[in-house]
Amino acid sequence: MSKLITLIIDDKQVEAKEGERLLWVALDNGIYIPHLCDLRMARRTVASCRLCFVEIEGLPNPVTSCTQTVSEGMVVRTRSPRVDRLLRTGFELLLSNHRLHCAKCAKNKRCELQKIAKERGLKLKLTRLRQLVKEAQIDESPGVFCYDSSKCVLCGRCIWADQEQVKVGAIGFIRRGIGRKVATFEDGLLADSICTQCEACVKICPVGAFYLKEDERKPYKIKKEC
Ligand code: FES
Repeated sequence: MSKLITLIIDDKQVEAKEGERLLWVALDNGIYIPHLCDLRMARRTVASCRLCFVEIEGLPNPVTSCTQTVSEGMVVRTRSPRVDRLLRTGFELLLSNHRLHCAKCAKNKRCELQKIAKERGLKLKLTRLRQLVKEAQIDESPGVFCYDSSKCVLCGRCIWADQEQVKVGAIGFIRRGIGRKVATFEDGLLADSICTQCEACVKICPVGAFYLKEDERKPYKIKKEC
């Protein structure tokens, strides 16, 4: 059994099991750290969203709290000028590749990007970067849900759910760089793949990439491309 240790996060003394990941210790103690890609139940952290930075006393640079394990006497700051700057930049990078369409989005008011913006006083619009995705890219072939890759933030949660939770293996990342996306084998329609339409991807998606058709407020002009 792991031993209990004590650490300080934002001047609050908290207890945790030695070796637990800092992100989840903070969240369990009511201290919010923005995050998109990490999952408590996942065995591996991918640290791809780059939003969960914190400062730790004694370390020269901010670290991602999802990859950092806690230890006795650790002193953590979830806010600092450097952390806030990293978050602002990471957030805007994500937005540049996310079709901003909040008012008509099926996940409006339940979107993690909106939550992060609200928690950290960030704008849901681009100020320094150019919008890279403008067109909806929607696969509406499954019976009850759609997948819009123009809203995907590449957090990989859906891939984890598909491969590790329900063990189907219908989706994965394809391509590199700006063309990177979540797709089925050969980038085909979900309905033509081995997808069982269990909706695990819909439940775990933090934004409006996978969504239920019934949650769509106003129908888009659906394009069958993915
Ligand atoms: Fe840590 Fe995404 S939650 S990098």
